[in-house]
Amino acid sequence: MRKYVIKGGNELHGEVTVSGFKNAALAIITSTILVEGSCIISNIPKISDVTVHLEILKRMGASVKLLDDTTVEINCAHLRGSRAAFDDLTRKTRASTYLMGAVLGRFGSAHVSMSGGCNLGSRPIDQHIKGFESLGAKVEIRNGIIHITAPDGMHPARIYFDQRTVGGTINVILAAVRVPGLTIIENANKEPHIVDLANFLNAMGAEISGAGTDVIKVRGVHKLHGGMYSIIPDQIEAGTFMAAVAATGGEIVIRNVIPKHLECISTKMIEMGIEVVDLDDALLVRRTGELRRTNVKTMPYPGYPTDMNPQTGVLMCLARGTSIMTEGVFQDRFRYVDELRRMGAHIQVDGQIAIVEGVHNLSGAPVQCCDLRCGAALIIAALAAQGVTEIGNIEHVERGYDNMVAKFNSLGAGIEIVEFQDEEELANA
Ligand code: EPZ
Repeated sequence: MRKYVIKGGNELHGEVTVSGFKNAALAIITSTILVEGSCIISNIPKISDVTVHLEILKRMGASVKLLDDTTVEINCAHLRGSRAAFDDLTRKTRASTYLMGAVLGRFGSAHVSMSGGCNLGSRPIDQHIKGFESLGAKVEIRNGIIHITAPDGMHPARIYFDQRTVGGTINVILAAVRVPGLTIIENANKEPHIVDLANFLNAMGAEISGAGTDVIKVRGVHKLHGGMYSIIPDQIEAGTFMAAVAATGGEIVIRNVIPKHLECISTKMIEMGIEVVDLDDALLVRRTGELRRTNVKTMPYPGYPTDMNPQTGVLMCLARGTSIMTEGVFQDRFRYVDELRRMGAHIQVDGQIAIVEGVHNLSGAPVQCCDLRCGAALIIAALAAQGVTEIGNIEHVERGYDNMVAKFNSLGAGIEIVEFQDEEELANA
C-alpha cells in the first residue's frame, strides 16, 4: 500500500503545466470505436483511467500503439464485434458508459458490462437509455450486461433530456453519428469536453453542429475515416492548482490552459481575494492577503463545476466568515467533509447544502480519499494545514490526475509517497 505524507505550511511558487483533460480523453478514446481507420491522438493525460480504456479497446480487437508519453495511435478498423463485456475493466471508470453509444453507433447493437467510477451517490443511466430507445434501439440489462439491440435498424430522432447529463449527451452523439438522417438533442450539456468530442468526430468525417449549446444536431454519415487530434487542457486540474495556491498562499503560473473554460472558477477565486492574471494560454495566480468567504452553487457548464466542489470547500474552511456551498449535480458529493472534519474543519451538511465556518487553520491528521476530487481536496488541505497529514487510498488521485505529486513538488509542496503494509497485508504476509 502507499500513502501521501505531507507536512503543511509551505507557500507554493513556480510554474506548472496542465495535462490533457481526463474527461475529454476518455470520451474521445472510446469514440474511436466509430472510426474505421487510424486515429493519432495527442495531449493524452498519463492516468490509470486512460490505461483502462486503451485496454478495453485492445480486448475488442483494436490496434493501440503509444507513440510517446502523451500520444497514442488507435485503429479500430478490425474490431471483433459488438461485445464489450469486460466487467473487470468497465467497473473501474464511469466513462466506460460511453462504450454503449460508441459500440451501438458502430455495429447497430451493443453488449456492454456496467460502468463504475467515483461513488457520488446514485448515477442512473435512464437518460442514456431514453436516447437509445428514441433512436429505435431496445435496451435490456441482465447478468450485469447492458444489451442494446435494434432489430428494425436505427432511425434519426428528436431527443429532449429530462435531466442535464454529460454522459447522456455524449452517448447519444456517439449512437447517432452514423444513423442516416438528422438527430436533434435538446437540453444537451455544454461542457468543453463535449465540444472537444464533437470537434474530434467532425475531424474524422462526422457532421455534428451545435456542440457547446443546448441543442446539438447530428447528421448521420456512412463512415468515419482516421486522422489526427489533440485533447484540450484539463480545466479541473488547472482549477485544482488555483485552489491549492489560494489555500497555501504564494504565486504560481499555470500553463496550457484555455482561460475561457476556467471563467467561472477564476471569477470565484477573485471573489475570495485571489489575484488571477490572464496570460492568454496561461494564468498567473497569486494569494497574499486573507481569503474572503463566498457562496457557491455547482451546476452544469458554464456554471461552477461540481468537480471543483471539494477543492473549493477547503478554501471556504480557511476563509474568514461563513460560506455556503450548494451542490446542484450529485447526490453525494459531500463525502469529503468527514475527512476535513478530522483536520479541524467546521462544516455542517444538510442534504445538498454545506455551511462552512472559516477556521484560523486546519491541523494535520490521518485521512482517506473517498473519490478523485476528494483526494485533490485533501492534498490541498494538507498543504495548508499545520503539522503532518497522511493520505490513504491515493489510487483515487492517480486514476484522474497526471503526475500530481511531481507537479505539486515542483511548486514546493514537499509531498512524500510512502510504502507501508496495512493490517491485511501483514496478516497475509
Ligand atoms: C461526468 O459524469 C464526469 N465524468 C464527472 O466527472 C462530472 O462531475 C459530471 O459529468 C458532471 O459534470 C466523466 O466525464 C467521466 P452526468 P456523468 O450524467 O456523465 C444524473 C470527475 O471527477 N443523471 O452529467 O456521470 C446523475 O445522477 C467526474 O472527473 C440521471 O439522473 O455526469 C447526476 O446527478 C466525477 N440520469 C446528474 O444527472 C442519467 O441518465 C449529472 O450526471 C444521467 C445522469
